Amino acid sequence: STARVTIDPGFVIGPINRRLFGTFIEHMGRAVYTGIYEPGHPTADEDGFRQDVIELVKEMGVTGIRYPGGNFVSGFHWRDSVGPKEERPRRLSLAWRSSESNQVGLHEFATWVEKVGGELMYAVNLGTADTKDALDVLEYANIAKSTTLSDERVANGRTEPFGISMWYLGNEMDGPWQVGHSSAEDYGKKASRTAKALRQLDPRVELVASGSSHPTMATFPMWDREVLEHTYDDVDYISCHGYYQERNGDLASFLASPVKMDRYLDVVIATADHVKAVKRSEKTLNISFDEWNVWYLGENLRSFPRQVDRFYRTDEIEGDDWPEAPRLAEDVYSVADAVVIGGLLISLLRHADRVTSAAMAILVNVIAPITTEPGGPAWRQATYFPFAVTSRLAVGVSLDVRVQSDQYESNELGTVPLVDAGATVDEETGRAAVFLVNRSLTDPITVTVNLAALGEKSILETQMMADDDVYAVNTKDNPDRVGLKPNETASLDDGILTITLPAVSWTAVALG
Ligand code: AHR
Repeated sequence: STARVTIDPGFVIGPINRRLFGTFIEHMGRAVYTGIYEPGHPTADEDGFRQDVIELVKEMGVTGIRYPGGNFVSGFHWRDSVGPKEERPRRLSLAWRSSESNQVGLHEFATWVEKVGGELMYAVNLGTADTKDALDVLEYANIAKSTTLSDERVANGRTEPFGISMWYLGNEMDGPWQVGHSSAEDYGKKASRTAKALRQLDPRVELVASGSSHPTMATFPMWDREVLEHTYDDVDYISCHGYYQERNGDLASFLASPVKMDRYLDVVIATADHVKAVKRSEKTLNISFDEWNVWYLGENLRSFPRQVDRFYRTDEIEGDDWPEAPRLAEDVYSVADAVVIGGLLISLLRHADRVTSAAMAILVNVIAPITTEPGGPAWRQATYFPFAVTSRLAVGVSLDVRVQSDQYESNELGTVPLVDAGATVDEETGRAAVFLVNRSLTDPITVTVNLAALGEKSILETQMMADDDVYAVNTKDNPDRVGLKPNETASLDDGILTITLPAVSWTAVALG
């Protein structure tokens, strides 16, 4: 089978915001404790952070990091996490039925983010807390000095303000599992008055209203519409969350997950634009896709026995048992999962005009591209690679790519193309990148990419995720089983790139 792709630098979707390559650290499972932070680990630095993990995060090209939750944030009080470590209270995390020592808090996390070189993005609790609590943490973090809370920050060792721009107004408040779960009306009103107050305190903040926690929610997209009816003028973003998984051994449908993401985004964009029209607003709202990933959330799990239920293992913890940093949602990712991740990144690029911030959730140990063992090694999961390559190569503007390819019938999504493609070009450097996915379960596909309109180019590198065993994974004992390979078939003549994509594969081609 063959496919044709046409790329033209005149067909610009939009600039690629570097925030598209954000991730997320939540106080959940072992993301923080024994993930990024493990005093006593052989690689721990003077602050107790694992340097092996810091190196992997840097190499991954992570830009922003949302913190500290997630469901955790809806029962979290930021003051517990500042001040002398030995005086910080131990609390129970209702979201994850865990104990929270608060040994990593705002200061420590900001220090870690500086080490990995990203932007700290902060979520406020709108579950058990209110506008005042959000105002307090903003004052503590962003006001330079001479107020009680900013002086407290200085006394706690941080002279300069944290200068956090991006603030998330609660998390998944539409979800019945959420502490403080609200109706759209209640949340919308609370988010609106909180947003107004935060902006009064610091007009530079960018604010994200909580959209639906998943497009399968019965209240989607009415939740988003109603929340925006209350908050449209007050916020800059509406959030999307989406997790994808293979169900019932239906790999063909799973590989089409980016089509699901496209359709979800199209509905959220239509909903936001509907509210814009009703309000006769001049402002266009952007999307913060602040949780996305592959996550095996129960129902017919492929082969990994620990992967059960949405917030699994919380139900196995009984009585007075509130463990510290338990092993939660430590999914092990395959090459097929990595191909889907590469495709989801293409979907985000395809919406670069509206999706201007995103976070792959979570970064370490919990549904994560990076895994650690306490006291032991850290390694890259299969899903690490397409993220790292896309973050490095997708620079400049995202282009509206035309794909002509055979299609196939998928059970979940109907007719979908076998080949998916995205492309980017950077005017400053003249470099371009093409991202390609072959969803065929059985056949290689030779793709011709007409990129003559980009001008004289040559192939700088090719990076591919493909394997004879699409379910191959990296593990502690075999941490380099899967990874990037070059695609040796790529050639470029007279502006036509010809490349053969193996079955179930993701490929990036850098041009310059
Ligand atoms: O990312 C893990 C969890 O998934 C988050 O806490 C929550 O927001 C989502 O449901």
